[in-house]
Amino acid sequence: MARRKIVAGNWKMNMTPTQAVELVNTLKPLVKTNDVDVIFCVPAIDIIPAMEAAKGSNINIGAENMYFEDSGAYTGEISPLMLVDAGVKYVIIGHSERREYFGETDEIVNKKVLKAFEHNLTPIVCCGESLTQREQGVTFDLIRQQIKIAFQNVSAEQAQTAVIAYEPIWAIGTGKVATTSQAQEVCAAIRVLISEIYDQTTALAVRIQYGGSVTADTAADLFSQPDIDGGLVGGASLKPDFGKIVNH
Ligand code: PGA
Repeated sequence: MARRKIVAGNWKMNMTPTQAVELVNTLKPLVKTNDVDVIFCVPAIDIIPAMEAAKGSNINIGAENMYFEDSGAYTGEISPLMLVDAGVKYVIIGHSERREYFGETDEIVNKKVLKAFEHNLTPIVCCGESLTQREQGVTFDLIRQQIKIAFQNVSAEQAQTAVIAYEPIWAIGTGKVATTSQAQEVCAAIRVLISEIYDQTTALAVRIQYGGSVTADTAADLFSQPDIDGGLVGGASLKPDFGKIVNH
């Protein structure tokens, strides 16, 4: 079965609740399609108003993060139960900004991934190397480690429904997009790795996105690669251009 494309916006720490509603209303007619899953991952406080604004459209509202416990004394965190109750189905896990600024390790990412699956949330599991790591030639080793640990104790059935986002850190927010062949090469390697950890069926089912300075100009070429099933889009997801990226 052909994999369905999935294009997700990552709003990061942008948009107040009022602005979120405006942006959803602006983008609603522009991201209309039956061919691609369209997800807006928004700040926690924007989830409910964005969900309201997106009603009746093809937009899925997702989260940018969640904690790995259901409830308790974890001041400031957001629980998977809260996301599920709000109607969320997708959650970004282990974004490089979470790893870099908030100390998320591969082990924490794994706990969050397991927790997401426990509550039937689809994790968008992020991985990616820094410029130094690429120059040192350890990109593939690093991605293998990130993915292997992220998927520890995840069943094949669960893994088949996962989304993996390959986001080279040097391409995020820098305007320096990976070349199509660089992106395809790593996404293909991730698929091979999934077939090693699980099996061919799982590898063929898992959806792999590219992320890092995707624009309306680069989306079509990137998303037409055999192992790239869509994108995770930061900056450009806040603009009308996101419509062009979705309808690449
Ligand atoms: P960018 O961000 O598109 O602004 O580079 C991508 C991401 O961090 O998910």
